[in-house]
Amino acid sequence: MNFQLTEEQLAVQAAAREFAQNELWAGVIERDEHQKFPAEQVKKMGELGFMGMMVSPEYGGGGMDTVSYVLAMEEISKVDASCSVIMSVNNSLVCWGLEQYGTEEQKQKYLTKLTTGEIIGAFALSEPEAGSDATSQRTTAEDKGDYYLLNGTKNWITNGTTASVYLVIAQTNPELKHRGINVLIVEKGMEGFQTGPKENKLGIRGSDTCSLMFNDVKVPKENRIGEDGFGFKFAMQVLAGGRIGIAAQALGIASGAYELSVKYSKERKAFGVPIAQHQAIQFKLADMATNIDAARLLCLQAAHDKDAHQDYAKSGAMAKLFASKVAMDTAVEAVQVHGGYGFVKEYHVERMMRDAKITQIYEGTSEIQKIVISREILK
Ligand code: CAA
Repeated sequence: MNFQLTEEQLAVQAAAREFAQNELWAGVIERDEHQKFPAEQVKKMGELGFMGMMVSPEYGGGGMDTVSYVLAMEEISKVDASCSVIMSVNNSLVCWGLEQYGTEEQKQKYLTKLTTGEIIGAFALSEPEAGSDATSQRTTAEDKGDYYLLNGTKNWITNGTTASVYLVIAQTNPELKHRGINVLIVEKGMEGFQTGPKENKLGIRGSDTCSLMFNDVKVPKENRIGEDGFGFKFAMQVLAGGRIGIAAQALGIASGAYELSVKYSKERKAFGVPIAQHQAIQFKLADMATNIDAARLLCLQAAHDKDAHQDYAKSGAMAKLFASKVAMDTAVEAVQVHGGYGFVKEYHVERMMRDAKITQIYEGTSEIQKIVISREILK
């Protein structure tokens, strides 16, 4: 792995940092408090090319590598993890999946609008009883000749109410178990498709999460991605890349909390000196910085593996497992460094602590990452 970032990668990092620092701080507390979707900010992210970073320019994407994507995700997550999860799902799960496995018609119809942020995408795998155990799909896609009849409920869907396009995983042939699962492109507005109320969440409260209900929705056959029965493999493939994005999100939450802690500890005085001069604080900052650098290396390793067309299921899971723990630990310590101020919203670190928790849960819990890693080790 080359440790030197290219000029292009540095430029992407600088652009993402500038956007996040100048445009995301304002209103981030209010968006969190009122669960307000960052519509304007997402539109701007689309204009700046952050919504379809790795897609070929032919389809309106940025044609960038995964390393650039990780760098941008870190910068945006430093300020607003709600914005970055919207970005991550759109980039890693929806755009990447469509570009890799979609037909030319599907790419022209959907991908060209998803990459520019004109519309947003969602990925629907989880169900009330199929979270970690993703093969147990209860949503059915009955083959009716020239269409699929879709019935069932999906849970915890990021971009649930704001998306226009949904990649829905559903069981067509239960006898074939996971090999009978398909992935269908469902459009908002299709008859029989409804979204549930927004979930009232602990963190990433600016992003919208809800259930999806399908009641005899007729999905044309041409909306299936890949061959009949490819749906579960599709889900596993996009999630392997998605985990790199969430690892970078966790890294960003950790570095955001760390940067605020360094700043605060130089300003805040106790016992006659800035608290940064006390070893109790210095030890915390040193641990944070060391863990963050290690997490960043794992994220870049996984991104490098993907860019080099090497297997990245293990390195992506390792990056997510480690970076999400670093995010949680760092955010908790950042609140501690801030003392009472850390417990109120104005100082941001309490939000980062709440946001960090989801990185240990979505796109596979930490326990699932350990299963993925150990299977790769033992296979
Ligand atoms: N690439 C391609 N295929 C893969 C794969 C990968 N990375 N990983 C597994 N597969 C294939 C296997 O080869 C196998 O296919 P065959 O039998 O045809 O060979 C098939 O998938 C099933 O694999 P397993 O037998 O390993 O399946 P399992 O039931 O034991 O489960 C699991 C594996 C890793 C636990 C999986 O179920 C899993 O990842 N669960 C977590 C699901 C998850 O991450 N959900 C997140 C929801 S999305 C989200 O959170 C987005 C958001 O809103 C932010």
